[in-house]
Amino acid sequence: MILQSAWRSPSNIALVKYWGKHGIQLPRNPSLSFTLQESHTTMKMVVDIHATSPSLVVMYDGQPRPQFEPKIKSFFTRIHSYFPWLSKAAVTIDSVNTFPYGAGIASSASAMSAMALCLTEIDGLIHDNQNPVLPLRASFVSTIARMGSGSAARSVFPLAALWGATPSVENSSDEYAIPWNDQIDSIYKSFHDTILIISSTEKSVSSTAGHELMNDLVYADVRYSEAHKNVACLTEIMRTSDHIDAFIALCESEALQLHALMMSGPQPYILIEPNTIAVIRKLWQFRNETSIPVCFTLDAGPNVHVLYPHDYHVDVMTFIKSELQQLCSNGLFIEDCTGAGPQKIEST
Ligand code: PMV
Repeated sequence: MILQSAWRSPSNIALVKYWGKHGIQLPRNPSLSFTLQESHTTMKMVVDIHATSPSLVVMYDGQPRPQFEPKIKSFFTRIHSYFPWLSKAAVTIDSVNTFPYGAGIASSASAMSAMALCLTEIDGLIHDNQNPVLPLRASFVSTIARMGSGSAARSVFPLAALWGATPSVENSSDEYAIPWNDQIDSIYKSFHDTILIISSTEKSVSSTAGHELMNDLVYADVRYSEAHKNVACLTEIMRTSDHIDAFIALCESEALQLHALMMSGPQPYILIEPNTIAVIRKLWQFRNETSIPVCFTLDAGPNVHVLYPHDYHVDVMTFIKSELQQLCSNGLFIEDCTGAGPQKIEST
């Protein structure tokens, strides 16, 4: 029996960062993210559940990509108890991203959430489960996505998501993310994220290794309690549009803390580049001179996510093109914003 499913799923950018994990991608602290609109993965999965022998074929944009297979095979092993049919199935996956590889956008978040959506839908077809995958099975999808890549747990929801158990948020869980779109003011529902590509070379230290290094960091417990505090603050700040200055201060503090953690372990490393700092300095100067509420965040890499409300789009883009674009690798930036979350693609 041949079954298939196709989904488009977005990447996300954390405002309060997940950094440090245990078990099967369980977070050491809660995190809160914006779901992106333009940066996404489109994935089609075809499964023969009665194949003569199990197999996995992975393609990117129609071309074979055997180098992705080991990671997906170990993910399938991890989720075997949820989808026992996987061990006997012939699976073909073909995906494509809207953003260039190495652009510093979390492709694992969009790809692993897309994969969790496809698997959950196919599982529903096998078991004749009539419930739509989203929103009814969102917690399950988020749990599966988390096992592929922690941050992928948050990509399942529109606009904003919160992942990780924390006393200030009822129903928060380490196992899966929860939607956070209803709790934020409309100003945050149309926020822009212009992603400045400072370097597109591969990271010298992977996120997996970075999480691991938190286990040896003397500041780790302080960091985890800061993250709990910052989630509690940010959830309050984002309920209205009145405290954008506090939003800016918290986002930038979180971004720099993430990189400070990398720089302060027993095996320190630096992922930001001179142009990351140059961008930040120019952005601070622009904000001081204009009072436009624009700020930055960083992922685990040198690229800068410039965040600002929709009303300032023209002013900020004019500034980016005249002052910041020259600091980007090949002048590259990606215009993104908060987005509607995953979309099912009907088969033709
Ligand atoms: O999901 P991972 O294991 O790639 O970790 C992502 C960690 C950060 O992107 C740096 C922060 C976050 O919360 O997304």
